[in-house]
Amino acid sequence: MSINPYSLTIDLKACIMKPFKKRTQVRLSSLRDYFMDRKAVDDMLSSGKDLIIYEYFEYSNPESEGHVNIGVTIINPGRIGKEYYMTRGHYHEKSAAEVYLGLSGEGIILMQLKDGEAQALKIMPGKIIYVPPHWGHRAINTGNEKMIFFYMYPSNAGHDYQLVKEKGFSKIVIEENGLPKIIDNPRYKSRN
Ligand code: PA5
Ligand code: NI
Repeated sequence: MSINPYSLTIDLKACIMKPFKKRTQVRLSSLRDYFMDRKAVDDMLSSGKDLIIYEYFEYSNPESEGHVNIGVTIINPGRIGKEYYMTRGHYHEKSAAEVYLGLSGEGIILMQLKDGEAQALKIMPGKIIYVPPHWGHRAINTGNEKMIFFYMYPSNAGHDYQLVKEKGFSKIVIEENGLPKIIDNPRYKSRN
């Protein structure tokens, strides 16, 4: 499908990308299965706090060969128990890479293969991260301000959320003595 060239604008102060085709806000209640400390999640929810943990603005293009989808993700600062706010994370269904560019704040991009082999890279303004095909990916805000990054991936990549929902990531990122620390996930369900 042929489409005309266009441009988009990221407003870092207002934390929006304009125009967008889809704005997704992800609240704590939909992330219950993802955080290690379920009691901390339930305590927060039962006190009436179903906070927005992150949101993303996407400008999607036709799902045909050659196009890419682009967007911006904004993760709020905070923790559930010791674990920093983060995205659900997913694998791409097709053999498709993704590129992230840090715009504001600081965090960690956690990546893993389906056998559990993990890699973590820091993201901050100006930092580009290449997520190769087959690596599941999750973004974690380890700072005190909003963490914002640009992303781009092939439009026909597809998203597999199920595997992460069922098994989790093999590593998690927690705060210890005021600093981020990557540890083994006690809830990780290995495939082997
Ligand atoms: O495509 C990506 O990897 C990101 O744009 C994510 O979709 C975004 O950060 C939200 O994360 P998730 O899709 O895991 O909820
Ligand atoms: Ni992705």
